[in-house]
Amino acid sequence: MRDKWSSKLGFILAAAGSAVGLGNLWKFPYSASTNGGGAFVAIYIAFLIIIGCPLMLAGITLGRKTQLSVFGAYKSINKNWSFVGTLGVICGFFILAFYSTVGGWVLYYLKNALLGGLNITDPNVLGEIFNNLMNSPIELILYQFIFMALTVSIVLKGISGGIEKASKVMMPALFIMLIIVAIRSLTLEGSIEGLKFLFMPDFSKINMEVIINALGQMFFSLSVGMGTMVTYGSYLDKKENILNTGVIVPALDTAVALIAGIAIIPAVFALGFEATEGPGLMFITLPAVFASMPMGNIFNIAFFLLVVFASLTSSISMLEVAVSYFVDEKQKSRVPSTLIIGLVIFALGIPASLSMGIWQDVGILGNLGFFDVYDKLTSNILLPTGAFLLCIFTGWVLKTEEAIKEIESSGVKFKLANIWSILIKYVVPVGVLIILINSYIDFFVSIF
Ligand code: PHE
Repeated sequence: MRDKWSSKLGFILAAAGSAVGLGNLWKFPYSASTNGGGAFVAIYIAFLIIIGCPLMLAGITLGRKTQLSVFGAYKSINKNWSFVGTLGVICGFFILAFYSTVGGWVLYYLKNALLGGLNITDPNVLGEIFNNLMNSPIELILYQFIFMALTVSIVLKGISGGIEKASKVMMPALFIMLIIVAIRSLTLEGSIEGLKFLFMPDFSKINMEVIINALGQMFFSLSVGMGTMVTYGSYLDKKENILNTGVIVPALDTAVALIAGIAIIPAVFALGFEATEGPGLMFITLPAVFASMPMGNIFNIAFFLLVVFASLTSSISMLEVAVSYFVDEKQKSRVPSTLIIGLVIFALGIPASLSMGIWQDVGILGNLGFFDVYDKLTSNILLPTGAFLLCIFTGWVLKTEEAIKEIESSGVKFKLANIWSILIKYVVPVGVLIILINSYIDFFVSIF
């Protein structure tokens, strides 16, 4: 018997757990601040409604209909389309390879916070701590290994006993901690400037790059485009109403991204730091921000603990896509598959970890090092490609009428079925394709 979620709430927490991760807490705040603040947030939300929600529903529906993980789901409807599943599995390997790099940094920071080593207000000193970590291969690889070991230990236990149980504990804890940190940040004097920056769009800042980044960020953050939602949807019981999950999961994901922005950016402004720091925002600026507040170290600990929870509930979903392929399609057992795949991804991730420090000058594609190649290849190329193909598949191969039947099979009425159909068949594929062509050009230009 194939494992199942024990309840719909379990599924929602696991799916939201997959969506909420480093994409929300680490990438969103710095992407928003380096891509023009409010303008980026506005485009992001527009993409979310027009493209993200319809695709989320399409993915969950495909999984629930076929009760198979991503490769089998496509194959069972049309053999020629199984390559989309393969793409998803490959994408999962590469995302997790660099995700576990950052996951390792977060674990290292949590350890530091627990030992009181982050109680530092000078960003220069914190910058040194970050650089030292980047240049300590042993430490990087060790923490990346621990992160992968934690991920593996959850996936080993399967769907209801592993992924669902872990998400049920970690997700509520994460929400509570994030809200506390956000309230603290908003009550600092001067935080209003940060809010203005985040929510008052300056549309003159919009250009193609901002648009590509907002779209890539949305796919990454929602975990759509590589089959995560197809796979998670496949463990849903036929009696569950899936219609509202297509809105609930993206809404939770976006709420967390915005609250993370609210927790971070206003505090950065209020305490006089620079918000346009980029990827270092979370590791260099933020600890300084917390350390400058009363009881700052407690906030450092709470924050890095919540980031650990968020990243683990995401990393398990990436690993599950690959594991379920071997379990469903190759009839392999879960435990050895999980262990072997976990090890392979760990090995694939080592160069990504090293490329931020001692391998800084090693470019594998043009100037891009391993970390950047994995990141750009997945976020800007594979995920949007996978999302585009999911859309064409649902609209024209499976056909939206069939998908709507599946959605309504639990007895709900899909009132927006016509609009959804038009979005999936025409609007989303055309929109994604235009941006995708630009991403391809962008990617190849950065290589050559
Ligand atoms: N959505 C996750 C995050 O925001 C990342 C992710 C991408 C997870 C793709 C699964 C699949 O961190």
